[in-house]
Amino acid sequence: MSGGNASGAETETDSTRNPRVASLVSALGRRSIVLIGLMGSGKTSTGRRLAQELGLEFVDADEEIEAAARLSITEIFARHGEDSFRDGERRVMARLLCEGPRVVASGGGAFMNEETRARIALSGISIWLKADQDVLWRRVRKRSHRPLLQGGDPEQTLRTLLEQRYPVYALADVTIVSRDGPHELAVEEIIAGIECFLRSSPGLSPLARPKSVTVPQQQQNAGPQPFSSHVQVSVELGARTYTILIGAGLIAEAGNHIRRLAPRAACAIVTDENVAKLHLPALERALDEAFVRHARVVVAPGEGSKSFAEYARVCNALIGAKLERGDVIVALGGGVIGDLAGFAAATVRRGMRFIQVPTTLLAEVDSSVGGKTGINSSHGKNLIGAFHQPSLVIADTDTLETLPPREFRAGYAEIVKYGLIGDAGFYAWLEANWRAVFAGGAARVHAIATSCKAKAAIVARDEYEEGERALLNLGHTFGHALERLTSYDGARLVHGEAVAIGMACAFRFSARHGLCGLQDQARVEAHLQEVGLPVCMAGIPGWNVGPEAILEAMYQDKKVEHGALAFILARAIGDCFIAKNVEASEILGFLQDELNSGH
Ligand SMILES: NC(=O)c1ccc[n+]([C@@H]2O[C@H](COP(=O)([O-])OP(=O)(O)OC[C@H]3O[C@@H](n4cnc5c(N)ncnc54)[C@H](O)[C@@H]3O)[C@@H](O)[C@H]2O)c1
Repeated sequence: MSGGNASGAETETDSTRNPRVASLVSALGRRSIVLIGLMGSGKTSTGRRLAQELGLEFVDADEEIEAAARLSITEIFARHGEDSFRDGERRVMARLLCEGPRVVASGGGAFMNEETRARIALSGISIWLKADQDVLWRRVRKRSHRPLLQGGDPEQTLRTLLEQRYPVYALADVTIVSRDGPHELAVEEIIAGIECFLRSSPGLSPLARPKSVTVPQQQQNAGPQPFSSHVQVSVELGARTYTILIGAGLIAEAGNHIRRLAPRAACAIVTDENVAKLHLPALERALDEAFVRHARVVVAPGEGSKSFAEYARVCNALIGAKLERGDVIVALGGGVIGDLAGFAAATVRRGMRFIQVPTTLLAEVDSSVGGKTGINSSHGKNLIGAFHQPSLVIADTDTLETLPPREFRAGYAEIVKYGLIGDAGFYAWLEANWRAVFAGGAARVHAIATSCKAKAAIVARDEYEEGERALLNLGHTFGHALERLTSYDGARLVHGEAVAIGMACAFRFSARHGLCGLQDQARVEAHLQEVGLPVCMAGIPGWNVGPEAILEAMYQDKKVEHGALAFILARAIGDCFIAKNVEASEILGFLQDELNSGH
């Protein structure tokens, strides 16, 4: 189990650490120090002392595996075999490495796994505690809890392990000879070794940046970027603060995350039919492996499921599955599932914990973050709902590989939105790098993380949309009206496309009123079109609606205050603002011109 801070005291802050330690911890960034070596090499005892010295958390990976399985390692070996243990070890290491900086004592076999070695290379520094055969044998021969030394000739087994593993351990970043003697000496040697390694490895800088990655302005148009493949973003809401995990392969770790969050809870997965076919088996497997009981509720795909009827059906199914108040609802799917399952979580048993596992780009960058949940009314979108924050967001970017290209593009519109409302540098980066974002990999993770970070910052400052959070509605007043007027028919228009048209309208409206330059308006239209998004109503199949009907649909939006419309308008790319009391006649004139000009 996580040992917390090794000293039992609060984590040291930079100001209370000695300057040498402070500078080393700062250079580590989010990298963890991972101790590797054979049984008896002193990983746990030295690791604890090292963590204490550095003021970092100490975690023993073997203890984590035992806690996850609720069995001792000997029992896991006996009941499930070594392969099952190794698989658990790989997953536990992946999770621990996502959450640095900390000191991790790994199991003797962990570093033998190629994937784990790659993860350590990415998110850690490996320290091999090397000991001779006779030193190890003296330390371990009387211990009965080492499954690999049970039966046969244990001394010979240890020798064989040493021969097999030492060539691989030799790949570690730093090697320290493990001698008998005070731990302080070993700790000092490790610190000196890490300092030396950091000095000789300037390429480690990306992880030295805090929390999530931001691109320095001068790098924006440079070639391939050294972005992280896994990023965590925190949504700071006091006691309700939660983490967004972003990266590939995260669904496989979902069970462990849920168990840590709610140790004895059962959960119910709410998903739609499309996602159930593609990604539910992996999630259910992850829950089984972490011994988390689970039920499932599957709804039809599409906006139509954000209805009273479906909401009632989901709530009854959750109650029917005997979910208790302390249990967890997991939303596996796009924004529709997140909104519907989140609203059920907000209301069933007067509020239950829920976890978002977004599977569309739109959901990964927007709807899974910030706690807005709800369903549609016959009068308009999202008119019935509640603020209810998730306890965790697991954005597994692998799920996007099965997303239809049209849905991916639609989600990209929300990424563009973050650049337009407040980050001109990010917008320029997208203009230059959108192909890399569409291709996948670290550029995509960077785009998702930057979006989540922007949303998390706004939500932290204005959770209930009393002020600046409304900026996130750029393009949405127009967009929601268009969705309503196309009867939420995804074949004609999906949400992200409606937002793209809405954002282009907001920039055209702003330029028409002299608020922003025509050049910015043109850049926005050009980029949206370049990636294949619509920028005008004429692009909607079968569009035949007059300006009055559009205006009326806009008045059904939540952004109406005292009968006046609030719009998000632009002074420039990266500089949007909330405009209250926009005259209906101005909107009507604008819509008339849009329709007349074929927009
Ligand atoms: N709560 C918020 O803050 C917020 C913010 C933005 C949007 N939204 C809401 O989000 C909804 C739109 O979300 P969306 O665009 O994700 O739509 P969606 O949930 O309908 O998903 C789009 C389609 O993709 C399918 N799908 C999902 N994941 C897939 C995958 N990995 N592979 C293949 N197919 C997959 C779905 O079955 C669906 O057919 C709207 O209702 C909108 O109002 C909410």
